[in-house]
Amino acid sequence: MANTKHEFSATVGIAPSPVGVQEPPPIADPTPAPVAAVERREFVRFARAYRALHACMVVSFLTLAVTGLSLKFSYTSWAARLSHIMGGFETAGYIHRFAALLMFGTFTAHIVGLVRQKQRNKTTWSAILLGPNTLIPNKQDAQEFVATMKWFVGLGPRPEYGRWSYWEKFDYFAVFWGIVVIGSTGLTLWFPVFFTRFLPGSFINVATIIHSDEALLATGFIFTVHFFNTHLRPEKFPMDTTIFTGHMPLAELKRDKPREYAALVASGQLEAHLEEPQPEIVVKAIRFFAWIALTIGFSVVVWIIYAMLFAYR
Ligand code: HEM
Repeated sequence: MANTKHEFSATVGIAPSPVGVQEPPPIADPTPAPVAAVERREFVRFARAYRALHACMVVSFLTLAVTGLSLKFSYTSWAARLSHIMGGFETAGYIHRFAALLMFGTFTAHIVGLVRQKQRNKTTWSAILLGPNTLIPNKQDAQEFVATMKWFVGLGPRPEYGRWSYWEKFDYFAVFWGIVVIGSTGLTLWFPVFFTRFLPGSFINVATIIHSDEALLATGFIFTVHFFNTHLRPEKFPMDTTIFTGHMPLAELKRDKPREYAALVASGQLEAHLEEPQPEIVVKAIRFFAWIALTIGFSVVVWIIYAMLFAYR
Protein backbone atom coordinates (compact mmCIF):
# COMPACT_ATOMS: atom_id res chain seq x y z
CA MET A 1 0.00 0.00 0.00
CA ALA A 2 1.35 3.47 -0.85
CA ASN A 3 2.38 5.65 2.07
CA THR A 4 0.34 8.74 2.80
CA LYS A 5 2.33 11.98 3.07
CA HIS A 6 2.02 11.84 6.85
CA GLU A 7 3.28 8.24 7.10
CA PHE A 8 6.17 9.02 4.76
CA SER A 9 7.18 12.01 6.86
CA ALA A 10 7.04 9.89 9.99
CA THR A 11 9.31 7.19 8.51
CA VAL A 12 12.02 9.64 7.43
CA GLY A 13 11.71 11.84 10.50
CA ILE A 14 10.36 15.07 8.87
CA ALA A 15 7.45 16.82 10.58
CA PRO A 16 4.35 16.99 8.34
CA SER A 17 3.76 20.50 6.99
CA PRO A 18 0.39 22.14 6.45
CA VAL A 19 -0.79 22.12 2.84
CA GLY A 20 0.38 25.16 0.85
CA VAL A 21 3.35 26.06 3.11
CA GLN A 22 6.67 25.87 1.24
CA GLU A 23 9.05 23.37 2.90
CA PRO A 24 12.77 24.27 3.08
CA PRO A 25 14.97 21.97 1.01
CA PRO A 26 15.92 18.86 3.04
CA ILE A 27 19.32 19.01 4.75
CA ALA A 28 21.49 15.99 3.98
CA ASP A 29 21.76 13.82 7.13
CA PRO A 30 25.34 12.55 7.64
CA THR A 31 24.13 9.41 9.46
CA PRO A 32 22.25 7.08 7.08
CA ALA A 33 18.67 6.31 8.11
CA PRO A 34 18.19 2.73 9.39
CA VAL A 35 16.97 0.62 6.49
CA ALA A 36 14.53 -2.17 7.38
CA ALA A 37 16.30 -5.49 6.75
CA VAL A 38 14.78 -7.10 3.66
CA GLU A 39 14.29 -10.84 4.31
CA ARG A 40 15.75 -12.60 1.29
CA ARG A 41 15.59 -16.02 2.85
CA GLU A 42 12.64 -18.34 2.18
CA PHE A 43 10.69 -20.75 4.34
CA VAL A 44 11.66 -24.40 3.82
CA ARG A 45 8.36 -26.25 3.55
CA PHE A 46 9.62 -29.57 2.15
CA ALA A 47 12.90 -31.33 3.00
CA ARG A 48 15.00 -32.70 0.13
CA ALA A 49 13.79 -36.31 0.59
CA TYR A 50 10.13 -35.28 0.18
CA ARG A 51 10.90 -33.24 -2.95
CA ALA A 52 12.71 -36.22 -4.46
CA LEU A 53 9.83 -38.58 -3.59
CA HIS A 54 7.27 -36.22 -5.12
CA ALA A 55 9.35 -35.97 -8.33
CA CYS A 56 9.46 -39.81 -8.49
CA MET A 57 5.69 -39.86 -7.94
CA VAL A 58 5.15 -37.35 -10.77
CA VAL A 59 7.32 -39.34 -13.20
CA SER A 60 5.80 -42.72 -12.29
CA PHE A 61 2.20 -41.47 -12.28
CA LEU A 62 2.48 -39.65 -15.62
CA THR A 63 4.13 -42.70 -17.20
CA LEU A 64 1.49 -45.07 -15.78
CA ALA A 65 -1.33 -42.80 -16.93
CA VAL A 66 0.00 -42.31 -20.46
CA THR A 67 0.90 -46.00 -21.02
CA GLY A 68 -2.18 -47.36 -19.19
CA LEU A 69 -4.64 -45.09 -20.98
CA SER A 70 -3.09 -45.85 -24.37
CA LEU A 71 -3.83 -49.54 -23.58
CA LYS A 72 -7.34 -48.76 -22.38
CA PHE A 73 -8.20 -46.63 -25.42
CA SER A 74 -6.13 -48.71 -27.85
CA TYR A 75 -8.94 -48.50 -30.46
CA THR A 76 -8.57 -44.69 -30.80
CA SER A 77 -6.20 -43.06 -33.28
CA TRP A 78 -4.37 -41.01 -30.59
CA ALA A 79 -3.65 -44.13 -28.51
CA ALA A 80 -2.33 -46.00 -31.56
CA ARG A 81 -0.06 -43.05 -32.45
CA LEU A 82 1.15 -42.69 -28.87
CA SER A 83 1.92 -46.38 -28.42
CA HIS A 84 3.71 -46.36 -31.79
CA ILE A 85 6.04 -43.65 -30.38
CA MET A 86 6.59 -45.83 -27.29
CA GLY A 87 7.46 -48.87 -29.42
CA GLY A 88 4.06 -50.56 -29.74
CA PHE A 89 1.35 -51.72 -27.31
CA GLU A 90 3.47 -54.54 -25.90
CA THR A 91 6.34 -52.19 -25.08
CA ALA A 92 3.82 -49.74 -23.55
CA GLY A 93 2.81 -52.63 -21.25
CA TYR A 94 6.45 -53.17 -20.19
CA ILE A 95 6.98 -49.43 -19.57
CA HIS A 96 3.76 -49.51 -17.51
CA ARG A 97 5.13 -52.29 -15.29
CA PHE A 98 8.49 -50.53 -14.90
CA ALA A 99 6.75 -47.29 -13.83
CA ALA A 100 4.64 -49.36 -11.37
CA LEU A 101 7.86 -50.54 -9.71
CA LEU A 102 8.99 -46.93 -9.39
CA MET A 103 5.66 -46.04 -7.78
CA PHE A 104 5.82 -48.97 -5.33
CA GLY A 105 9.41 -47.96 -4.50
CA THR A 106 8.33 -44.35 -3.87
CA PHE A 107 5.47 -45.51 -1.64
CA THR A 108 7.76 -47.82 0.36
CA ALA A 109 10.42 -45.09 0.73
CA HIS A 110 7.75 -42.74 2.07
CA ILE A 111 6.59 -45.22 4.72
CA VAL A 112 10.20 -46.03 5.73
CA GLY A 113 10.89 -42.26 5.88
CA LEU A 114 7.96 -41.77 8.29
CA VAL A 115 9.21 -44.55 10.58
CA ARG A 116 12.76 -43.09 10.52
CA GLN A 117 11.43 -39.60 11.24
CA LYS A 118 9.57 -40.94 14.26
CA GLN A 119 12.74 -42.62 15.57
CA ARG A 120 14.90 -39.55 14.90
CA ASN A 121 12.50 -37.20 16.69
CA LYS A 122 12.04 -39.73 19.52
CA THR A 123 8.28 -39.23 19.37
CA THR A 124 5.20 -41.44 19.41
CA TRP A 125 2.73 -42.34 16.65
CA SER A 126 -0.08 -40.67 18.56
CA ALA A 127 1.95 -37.42 18.75
CA ILE A 128 2.53 -37.58 14.97
CA LEU A 129 -0.99 -38.60 14.03
CA LEU A 130 -2.86 -36.40 16.49
CA GLY A 131 -0.43 -33.44 16.75
CA PRO A 132 -1.05 -29.94 15.31
CA ASN A 133 0.75 -30.74 12.01
CA THR A 134 -1.01 -34.04 11.38
CA LEU A 135 -2.08 -35.11 7.91
CA ILE A 136 -5.04 -36.99 9.42
CA PRO A 137 -8.29 -35.06 8.83
CA ASN A 138 -9.72 -33.77 12.13
CA LYS A 139 -12.45 -31.53 13.57
CA GLN A 140 -10.55 -28.36 12.68
CA ASP A 141 -10.50 -29.41 9.00
CA ALA A 142 -14.28 -29.84 9.08
CA GLN A 143 -14.60 -26.35 10.59
CA GLU A 144 -12.18 -24.88 8.03
CA PHE A 145 -14.07 -26.57 5.21
CA VAL A 146 -17.33 -24.88 6.34
CA ALA A 147 -15.50 -21.56 6.87
CA THR A 148 -13.97 -21.82 3.36
CA MET A 149 -17.41 -22.36 1.79
CA LYS A 150 -18.64 -19.25 3.63
CA TRP A 151 -15.57 -17.30 2.46
CA PHE A 152 -16.25 -18.36 -1.16
CA VAL A 153 -19.67 -16.70 -1.00
CA GLY A 154 -18.51 -13.65 0.95
CA LEU A 155 -20.06 -14.66 4.29
CA GLY A 156 -16.82 -14.76 6.28
CA PRO A 157 -13.04 -14.25 6.26
CA ARG A 158 -10.50 -16.66 4.75
CA PRO A 159 -9.78 -19.34 7.41
CA GLU A 160 -6.40 -19.27 9.15
CA TYR A 161 -5.05 -22.49 7.63
CA GLY A 162 -2.25 -24.39 9.34
CA ARG A 163 0.52 -26.59 7.92
CA TRP A 164 -1.96 -28.72 5.91
CA SER A 165 -5.27 -27.44 4.61
CA TYR A 166 -8.21 -29.86 4.35
CA TRP A 167 -7.80 -30.17 0.56
CA GLU A 168 -4.09 -30.99 0.88
CA LYS A 169 -4.98 -33.77 3.33
CA PHE A 170 -7.61 -35.04 0.89
CA ASP A 171 -5.06 -35.12 -1.96
CA TYR A 172 -2.60 -37.03 0.23
CA PHE A 173 -5.10 -39.74 1.14
CA ALA A 174 -6.42 -39.93 -2.42
CA VAL A 175 -2.92 -41.05 -3.45
CA PHE A 176 -2.73 -43.55 -0.55
CA TRP A 177 -6.10 -45.04 -1.46
CA GLY A 178 -5.27 -45.02 -5.16
CA ILE A 179 -1.99 -46.87 -4.67
CA VAL A 180 -3.66 -49.55 -2.56
CA VAL A 181 -6.56 -50.13 -4.98
CA ILE A 182 -4.78 -49.58 -8.32
CA GLY A 183 -1.57 -51.24 -7.10
CA SER A 184 -3.21 -54.41 -5.74
CA THR A 185 -5.41 -54.91 -8.83
CA GLY A 186 -2.42 -54.07 -11.08
CA LEU A 187 -0.37 -56.81 -9.40
CA THR A 188 -3.27 -59.24 -9.99
CA LEU A 189 -3.18 -58.40 -13.72
CA TRP A 190 0.61 -58.72 -13.74
CA PHE A 191 0.73 -62.12 -11.98
CA PRO A 192 -2.65 -63.77 -12.77
CA VAL A 193 -1.38 -67.35 -12.37
CA PHE A 194 -0.08 -66.68 -8.87
CA PHE A 195 -3.23 -64.84 -7.70
CA THR A 196 -5.66 -67.42 -9.13
CA ARG A 197 -4.04 -70.05 -6.90
CA PHE A 198 -6.14 -68.66 -4.07
CA LEU A 199 -8.67 -66.36 -5.82
CA PRO A 200 -11.42 -67.41 -8.28
CA GLY A 201 -10.50 -66.89 -11.97
CA SER A 202 -13.37 -64.43 -12.39
CA PHE A 203 -11.47 -62.09 -10.05
CA ILE A 204 -9.12 -61.27 -12.94
CA ASN A 205 -12.07 -59.75 -14.82
CA VAL A 206 -13.14 -57.86 -11.69
CA ALA A 207 -9.55 -56.64 -11.14
CA THR A 208 -9.38 -55.40 -14.75
CA ILE A 209 -12.57 -53.36 -14.32
CA ILE A 210 -11.51 -51.94 -10.94
CA HIS A 211 -7.97 -51.15 -12.16
CA SER A 212 -9.18 -49.53 -15.34
CA ASP A 213 -11.98 -47.43 -13.79
CA GLU A 214 -10.02 -46.42 -10.71
CA ALA A 215 -7.17 -45.39 -13.04
CA LEU A 216 -9.59 -43.17 -14.93
CA LEU A 217 -10.84 -41.66 -11.67
CA ALA A 218 -7.30 -41.09 -10.37
CA THR A 219 -6.13 -39.51 -13.61
CA GLY A 220 -9.23 -37.32 -13.86
CA PHE A 221 -8.84 -36.21 -10.22
CA ILE A 222 -5.10 -35.48 -10.28
CA PHE A 223 -5.11 -33.64 -13.60
CA THR A 224 -8.13 -31.47 -12.79
CA VAL A 225 -8.86 -31.04 -9.05
CA HIS A 226 -5.27 -31.45 -7.78
CA PHE A 227 -3.84 -29.29 -10.57
CA PHE A 228 -6.47 -26.61 -9.94
CA ASN A 229 -6.02 -26.59 -6.13
CA THR A 230 -2.26 -26.44 -6.44
CA HIS A 231 -1.43 -24.43 -9.54
CA LEU A 232 -4.47 -22.69 -10.95
CA ARG A 233 -5.79 -20.90 -7.87
CA PRO A 234 -5.54 -17.13 -8.43
CA GLU A 235 -2.85 -16.87 -5.68
CA LYS A 236 -0.66 -19.48 -7.39
CA PHE A 237 -1.41 -19.24 -11.11
CA PRO A 238 0.18 -20.43 -13.35
CA MET A 239 2.26 -22.73 -11.15
CA ASP A 240 3.30 -23.40 -7.55
CA THR A 241 6.86 -24.74 -7.48
CA THR A 242 7.06 -25.19 -3.68
CA ILE A 243 6.96 -29.01 -3.81
CA PHE A 244 9.93 -28.99 -6.23
CA THR A 245 12.08 -26.19 -4.79
CA GLY A 246 11.00 -26.98 -1.23
CA HIS A 247 10.88 -23.22 -0.57
CA MET A 248 8.11 -20.68 -0.24
CA PRO A 249 8.51 -16.92 0.28
CA LEU A 250 7.93 -15.88 3.88
CA ALA A 251 5.15 -13.49 2.81
CA GLU A 252 3.36 -16.44 1.19
CA LEU A 253 3.65 -18.52 4.37
CA LYS A 254 2.13 -15.64 6.37
CA ARG A 255 -0.73 -15.26 3.88
CA ASP A 256 -1.43 -18.93 3.06
CA LYS A 257 -0.66 -20.68 6.35
CA PRO A 258 -1.10 -18.01 9.04
CA ARG A 259 -1.68 -20.56 11.82
CA GLU A 260 1.57 -22.39 11.01
CA TYR A 261 3.45 -19.08 10.79
CA ALA A 262 2.10 -17.94 14.16
CA ALA A 263 3.04 -21.27 15.79
CA LEU A 264 6.59 -21.10 14.39
CA VAL A 265 7.04 -17.52 15.62
CA ALA A 266 5.60 -18.38 19.05
CA SER A 267 7.91 -21.39 19.46
CA GLY A 268 10.95 -19.45 18.18
CA GLN A 269 11.51 -22.07 15.43
CA LEU A 270 10.94 -19.88 12.38
CA GLU A 271 14.60 -18.88 12.05
CA ALA A 272 15.67 -22.55 11.85
CA HIS A 273 13.35 -23.03 8.84
CA LEU A 274 14.74 -20.19 6.71
CA GLU A 275 17.19 -20.69 3.84
CA GLU A 276 18.61 -18.67 0.94
CA PRO A 277 16.53 -19.10 -2.26
CA GLN A 278 17.52 -21.86 -4.70
CA PRO A 279 19.91 -20.73 -7.47
CA GLU A 280 18.16 -19.21 -10.50
CA ILE A 281 19.29 -22.04 -12.80
CA VAL A 282 17.76 -24.66 -10.46
CA VAL A 283 14.44 -22.78 -10.37
CA LYS A 284 14.45 -22.52 -14.18
CA ALA A 285 15.12 -26.27 -14.57
CA ILE A 286 12.33 -27.01 -12.09
CA ARG A 287 9.89 -24.78 -13.96
CA PHE A 288 10.77 -26.54 -17.21
CA PHE A 289 10.11 -29.97 -15.65
CA ALA A 290 6.86 -28.76 -14.05
CA TRP A 291 5.60 -27.24 -17.34
CA ILE A 292 6.19 -30.57 -19.10
CA ALA A 293 4.31 -32.42 -16.33
CA LEU A 294 1.38 -29.97 -16.42
CA THR A 295 1.18 -30.12 -20.22
CA ILE A 296 1.14 -33.93 -20.25
CA GLY A 297 -1.49 -33.98 -17.51
CA PHE A 298 -3.83 -31.52 -19.24
CA SER A 299 -3.34 -33.32 -22.58
CA VAL A 300 -4.34 -36.62 -20.97
CA VAL A 301 -7.56 -35.03 -19.68
CA VAL A 302 -8.36 -33.74 -23.17
CA TRP A 303 -7.66 -37.22 -24.64
CA ILE A 304 -9.90 -38.90 -22.06
CA ILE A 305 -12.78 -36.47 -22.73
CA TYR A 306 -12.36 -36.95 -26.48
CA ALA A 307 -12.29 -40.76 -26.14
CA MET A 308 -15.31 -40.80 -23.80
CA LEU A 309 -17.39 -38.54 -26.05
CA PHE A 310 -16.52 -39.83 -29.49
CA ALA A 311 -14.98 -43.28 -29.23
CA TYR A 312 -15.96 -45.02 -25.95
CA ARG A 313 -16.48 -48.77 -26.11
C1 HEM B 1 0.93 -48.93 -9.27
C2 HEM B 1 0.89 -50.11 -9.75
C3 HEM B 1 0.33 -50.57 -11.06
C4 HEM B 1 0.50 -51.82 -11.56
C5 HEM B 1 1.28 -52.94 -10.90
C6 HEM B 1 -0.18 -51.87 -12.83
C7 HEM B 1 -0.23 -52.96 -13.64
C8 HEM B 1 -0.95 -53.06 -14.78
C9 HEM B 1 -0.97 -54.18 -15.68
C10 HEM B 1 -0.15 -55.44 -15.49
C11 HEM B 1 -1.80 -53.90 -16.69
C12 HEM B 1 -2.11 -54.78 -17.90
C13 HEM B 1 -1.16 -54.28 -18.97
C14 HEM B 1 -1.16 -55.06 -20.24
O1 HEM B 1 -2.21 -55.54 -20.65
O2 HEM B 1 -0.06 -55.17 -20.83
C15 HEM B 1 -2.35 -52.61 -16.46
C16 HEM B 1 -3.26 -51.98 -17.25
C17 HEM B 1 -3.70 -50.68 -17.07
N1 HEM B 1 -3.24 -49.80 -16.11
FE1 HEM B 1 -2.01 -50.23 -14.60
N2 HEM B 1 -0.77 -50.67 -13.06
C18 HEM B 1 -0.47 -49.82 -12.01
C19 HEM B 1 -0.84 -48.50 -11.86
C20 HEM B 1 -1.62 -47.80 -12.76
C21 HEM B 1 -1.95 -46.40 -12.66
C22 HEM B 1 -1.47 -45.44 -11.55
C23 HEM B 1 -2.75 -46.10 -13.72
C24 HEM B 1 -3.37 -44.81 -14.15
C25 HEM B 1 -3.27 -43.70 -13.53
C26 HEM B 1 -2.94 -47.33 -14.47
C27 HEM B 1 -3.72 -47.44 -15.58
C28 HEM B 1 -3.91 -48.61 -16.28
C29 HEM B 1 -4.85 -48.74 -17.38
C30 HEM B 1 -5.81 -47.65 -17.85
C31 HEM B 1 -4.72 -50.03 -17.87
C32 HEM B 1 -5.48 -50.64 -19.01
C33 HEM B 1 -6.70 -51.37 -18.42
C34 HEM B 1 -7.62 -51.83 -19.53
O3 HEM B 1 -7.17 -52.59 -20.38
O4 HEM B 1 -8.78 -51.42 -19.49
N3 HEM B 1 -2.22 -48.33 -13.86
N4 HEM B 1 -1.81 -52.11 -15.29
